[in-house]
Amino acid sequence: MASLPTLPRKYHAASIWLLYAVGLLPAAWGFWLGATGRLPGNPVKEFEHLLGLWALRFFIATLAITPIRDLFAINWVRYRRALGLLAFWYVLMHFLTYMLLDQYLNFPAILVDIAKRPFITIGMAAFVLLIPLALTSNNWSIRRLGMRWVKLHRLVYVIAAAGALHFAMSVKVVGLEPWTYIGLVALLLLYRLVRPMIRGGRGGKARASAFRGQERSA
Ligand code: HEM
Repeated sequence: MASLPTLPRKYHAASIWLLYAVGLLPAAWGFWLGATGRLPGNPVKEFEHLLGLWALRFFIATLAITPIRDLFAINWVRYRRALGLLAFWYVLMHFLTYMLLDQYLNFPAILVDIAKRPFITIGMAAFVLLIPLALTSNNWSIRRLGMRWVKLHRLVYVIAAAGALHFAMSVKVVGLEPWTYIGLVALLLLYRLVRPMIRGGRGGKARASAFRGQERSA
């Protein structure tokens, strides 16, 4: 298979920082539109939606890195950590928008919401699960935790599925948009199940150590 021209190694770090900067632009743009009264309808809801959707998009991009490498021989593993962390920052901003601008830090109401509205319960669970992943997304944790790091970070599959479910449950009618996100997340998770068959059963440990090497070199 013909491969794409690769980015010279000296630009790797800069390209990752560029990804962080570009990845945060939708949030900055949405915030600016909201602050200048240019978000249509209910600006808080619009901003909440924008952040939730971008969180899901970054989860999908994170999960797509492995199939893209396997199936198209394009290695973007160096960008996976940044994409995962961008997903985390978007969920955090989505959560803070809900807490501050939507609920005005009314903790009793927030607790009732989390307990009584299943889609909020699922979103909250996904957010809580995401915190240890974000905290251990660094080379030091990879070295310290070894195989436990690999197992811990498999939680991203549960989180992405919960995020897509949370989206579908948050809307009155599950139209094309939620179905597209659910479909993409389902496809990417399904790929993990069939991957050992496609790759002819390469050992999990071999895969894990190769993965760690690539993460470190990112
Ligand atoms: C992995 C975690 C999460 C993801 C990926 C996510 C993503 C999304 C998405 C895509 C939407 C729908 C946006 C739209 O309507 O176009 C949404 C809606 C919503 N999310 Fe989340 N979310 C997450 C966690 C949370 C948490 C922790 C909370 C608050 C505790 C929360 C509160 C809400 C609310 C209130 C809405 C609905 C807004 C409305 O239409 O009334 N989400 N979320």
